Amino acid sequence: MKLRTSFIAFLLLLIFNTNLTAQQDFEQQIDELLVKMTLEEKVGQMNQYNGFYDATGPAPEGGNAAMKYEHLKKGWVGSMLNVHGVDEVRKLQELVVKESRLGIPLIFGYDVIHGYKIQSPIPLAEAASWDLEAIQKSAAIAADEASAVGLNWTFAPMVDISRDARWGRVMEGGGEDPYLGSKIGVARVKGFQGDDLSANYTIAACAKHFAGYGFAQGGRDYNTVDIGTNTLFNVVLPPFKAAVEADVKTLMNGFNILNGIPVTGDGFLQRDILKGKWGFDGFVISDWGSIGEMEPHGHAKNLAHAGELAAKAGSDMDMESTAYVTHLAESVKAGKVDKKLIDDAVRRILRVKFELGLFDDPYRYCNPTREKERLFHEDHLAGVLDMAKKSIVLLKNENNLLPLKKDQKGIVVIGDLADDKNSPLGSWRLASDNNSAVSFLEGLDNYTKDYLFVQGPKIFDDKADFLHHVTIKDDKKGMQEAVEAAATAQVVVMVLGEHGFMSGEGRSRTQLDLPGLQPELLKAVYEVNKNIVLILMNGRPLALPWEDEHIPAIIETWQLGSQTGNAIAQVLFGDYNPGGKLPMSFPRSVGQMPLYYNRYSTGRPDDNQLVFWSHYGDEKNTALYPFGYGLSYTTFAYDNLQIDATDPKAVKVLATVTNTGNLAGEEVVQLYLNDPVASIVRPIKELKGFEKIALDAGASQTVNFTLTEKELGFYDHNYDWVVEGGTFNIMVGGSSVDGLTGSFEIE
Ligand code: BGC
Repeated sequence: MKLRTSFIAFLLLLIFNTNLTAQQDFEQQIDELLVKMTLEEKVGQMNQYNGFYDATGPAPEGGNAAMKYEHLKKGWVGSMLNVHGVDEVRKLQELVVKESRLGIPLIFGYDVIHGYKIQSPIPLAEAASWDLEAIQKSAAIAADEASAVGLNWTFAPMVDISRDARWGRVMEGGGEDPYLGSKIGVARVKGFQGDDLSANYTIAACAKHFAGYGFAQGGRDYNTVDIGTNTLFNVVLPPFKAAVEADVKTLMNGFNILNGIPVTGDGFLQRDILKGKWGFDGFVISDWGSIGEMEPHGHAKNLAHAGELAAKAGSDMDMESTAYVTHLAESVKAGKVDKKLIDDAVRRILRVKFELGLFDDPYRYCNPTREKERLFHEDHLAGVLDMAKKSIVLLKNENNLLPLKKDQKGIVVIGDLADDKNSPLGSWRLASDNNSAVSFLEGLDNYTKDYLFVQGPKIFDDKADFLHHVTIKDDKKGMQEAVEAAATAQVVVMVLGEHGFMSGEGRSRTQLDLPGLQPELLKAVYEVNKNIVLILMNGRPLALPWEDEHIPAIIETWQLGSQTGNAIAQVLFGDYNPGGKLPMSFPRSVGQMPLYYNRYSTGRPDDNQLVFWSHYGDEKNTALYPFGYGLSYTTFAYDNLQIDATDPKAVKVLATVTNTGNLAGEEVVQLYLNDPVASIVRPIKELKGFEKIALDAGASQTVNFTLTEKELGFYDHNYDWVVEGGTFNIMVGGSSVDGLTGSFEIE
């Protein structure tokens, strides 16, 4: 036994040393390259261009594309985005490797946000699974496909915390909570990057948008962000720090200003915190044109000045604003930017290229056989189906209307989204084929053909795409027919929600209701038949108070990607027992925005019936469906909460969970903490632990949590971590509003 232990230790040491040697070797090779590189070539590494023509075609003549082509040949481009497919990638890589003076390979980036061809659920949906293993696997599937088409870098995960459902990009993140958001960000980084970044099936990840982008005022994309240090340090930054600790290779900054400074030009964030305090050794890319946008922001005089500010602040690579490639060498020569900063940026970029194995073999991601084999692989489809089922949240199930019996008769399906094969792919699915999702109806067909589908009024225009807003129609044609069909049904299944292109970048909303005629349709159907199952498809939390009050069964299915219909049908007929929990609060009204569970108490908290306390005169303060909430076809009971705070650095909490229903099911056991008296006030509760467990009917399990200084403390205004003694309250339960409570003291 002893021998075996020491042999393992020896092996580990060997692996560690090999890694160390490889890393040292990279640094030495980078040193050598830096000596050889001209200033222009260095700045070229810091330049990223968008794809400019069908790379497998002839070289472009004249214009912007021709300029990019010339720059590639000169070694003035470090990376390309939106070039994908083995042929195209190889063509450009060859151009650079063979024709540029030093032949430094390009790194190819792309927005693989929730898949390449096969789409997983949108990230917000995946977050609802609270299943880190499944999320990691889903990212690994995306990496496998993306790497097979020549890509080696994704601009994901987005780890922006957001508390405002009006913001369209909530679909792209892990929700409103920094603890859950950090865990999910790490799972996705690990999924993309794997254990070996140089393997041909892994790609570099990019945590974005550093920082604060999710706090755009009014939920309007690209808008001003102005938040205090308490929120910045304790809510916004933690998922980025966690990603850095998980060895994420790159970060992207953003379009927003933060407290008056465009984050692209923010040295406090990028130099002091990220590269200083956190010791990040990868590189930072700007967001698309965000260096140039420092001019309209009112921070830079012109593009050259913007480039100087960004380079000084620690933006290592310029995505498409051309500030660096056009002006940065001049700025260095004029003494406006220290050339050491350029060397540092180039070193970071080259390091990632070495780690990806691109210097070893610039074409390692360009294997046409692999490209054919890995796209649409059936193992991937199975993985994505599993993720989709886990992402579904059961919001309401009065009188156990669900699951439907497999021989259920008299089903009438209504709704524009029911047979839609495009919208469920969600936003940010750039490379997916249009209309490639399994629609709800196709999923239903697996179980029964004995149903009637009556679409009702057409709500969304079918031509909606990534570049255009969705047009909402107001033609009532089809309404009457749907209502008449509903009147004859034993159960009406209504598939309603937002179109997939109503969320994502640039897609903010001022309303959080069901768009267009859908509420009217739902109410008209309800008048004739109350036995309704409402299947929701949406890319953000919606405000559905009427629906909650009247509709007996509601299932949140978000946009579940390629396997949408298959996943929903399994839940509808009980072959899968849903266990998802909301990663964002669902409001009662849009006027409650921003709404989040981990809020602060006011000086006039909400238990007073009179006028002068913090509330709305026309609506409750609480969420309609709170963070962490989600039902199952079975039920769970919590008891036996025990707390042992003998060791203040490792407080033990345990609770027993019992499946009290008749079906096996999964529960996300959540631990919330509150520090009621602190030098900087703490939220009324904060998630500090969770575990997803599976229990057979009647079975119990004791779940253990350990609270260390990492969970008990917070960042003060100087960005120092402090743990203050005193009383702590905790709650353990199945949502953020419900659970066993207790407290403990530490010195
Ligand atoms: C988005 C980024 C994205 C980039 C490249 C920008 O508009 O904000 O998140 O990675 O485009 O497509």
